[in-house]
Amino acid sequence: MRAATLLLLSLLLSVAAAATTERCNPHDKAALFKIKQSFGNPYLLASWLPDADCCTSWYQVECDRTTNRITSLTVFAGELSGQLPAAIGDLPYLQTLTFRKLTNVTGPVQPAIAKTLKNLTYLDLSFNSLTGSIPGQLAELPNLDALHLDRNGLTGPIPDSFGRFGGKFPSLYLSHNRLSGQIPPSMANYNTDFSIDLSRNRLEGNLFEFDFSKIAAFPPNMTNLDVNHNRIYGSIPAAMARLDLQFLNVSYNRLCGEIPAGGKLQGFDSSAYFHNRCLCGAPLESCK
Ligand SMILES: *[C@@H]1O[C@H](CO)[C@@H](O)[C@H](O)[C@H]1NC(C)=O
Ligand SMILES: *[C@@H]1O[C@H](CO)[C@@H](O)[C@H](O)[C@H]1NC(C)=O
Ligand SMILES: *[C@@H]1O[C@H](CO)[C@@H](O)[C@H](O)[C@H]1NC(C)=O
Ligand SMILES: *[C@@H]1O[C@H](CO)[C@@H](O)[C@H](O)[C@H]1NC(C)=O
Repeated sequence: MRAATLLLLSLLLSVAAAATTERCNPHDKAALFKIKQSFGNPYLLASWLPDADCCTSWYQVECDRTTNRITSLTVFAGELSGQLPAAIGDLPYLQTLTFRKLTNVTGPVQPAIAKTLKNLTYLDLSFNSLTGSIPGQLAELPNLDALHLDRNGLTGPIPDSFGRFGGKFPSLYLSHNRLSGQIPPSMANYNTDFSIDLSRNRLEGNLFEFDFSKIAAFPPNMTNLDVNHNRIYGSIPAAMARLDLQFLNVSYNRLCGEIPAGGKLQGFDSSAYFHNRCLCGAPLESCK
């Protein structure tokens, strides 16, 4: 009986303690309120209340267990209208940042993201209505593993800086935008395990010609390459047959010549090669 009372008492005390010791860092909380406000206090962020602990009670937010700093912000699939605010850059401990599939997130990709979020490993701004060009500063994020900017209205070229990326090369998802220009030759430096999806853009120039001329620099660990619906011309380099590709789609370009024999290239469905100028050889018809 007495033990039960004590247990109840200590339970009550710990609940009270939890209510008074807020984990949420005040700087992080202030930044999140700026973000909420800049989107007009949307219903999607209704759990972001001043007297609730952002680390325990706010959806979309995760904190580190020891530092209590916000390491993850995931705003996904809902009604949200406005531009990405610069205040996102005031969350310097973020490791993953997602604003994905929101109804009306417009405007440019904030360069502030690159300036201060040095711990980011995952950045996903896909399926929005972002416009403007891709800030080259994103290549200054030293720890990035994946960059999703696909399915927006981004224009302009892929920044030349994307061939450097501070030594580590993230998987890049840039498909379904209005990117144009050349694939930067600097991207031949890509040398980590990576996927690249540049499909449904308006890229000209010639990834494969530049690969031909620099075969030693061909991304050796490239596993996925999707460049469908661009304007790539030239032919598929023999070096591609040496890659351990799991996915390839070069359809709807202006490629010509024989698909190099060997490796994985004959294993892909013929639709991976459809609609080019004059590609031939397995899995397409043999060359004349
Ligand atoms: C979308 O957001 C912009 C501001 O970024 C606003 O001007 C516009 O009215 C919004 N459109 C809709 C349909 O909510
Ligand atoms: C980033 O990560 C490192 C290593 O985990 C950590 O020491 C540092 O405090 C983190 N935050 C910032 C803002 O650099
Ligand atoms: C590339 O692949 C090779 C062989 O699978 C592996 O030994 C190497 O560590 C990989 N390099 C990078 C940078 O991932
Ligand atoms: C390649 O992309 C085209 C266009 O999106 C698509 O129709 C085709 O099914 C794809 N094929 C493969 C093997 O991915």
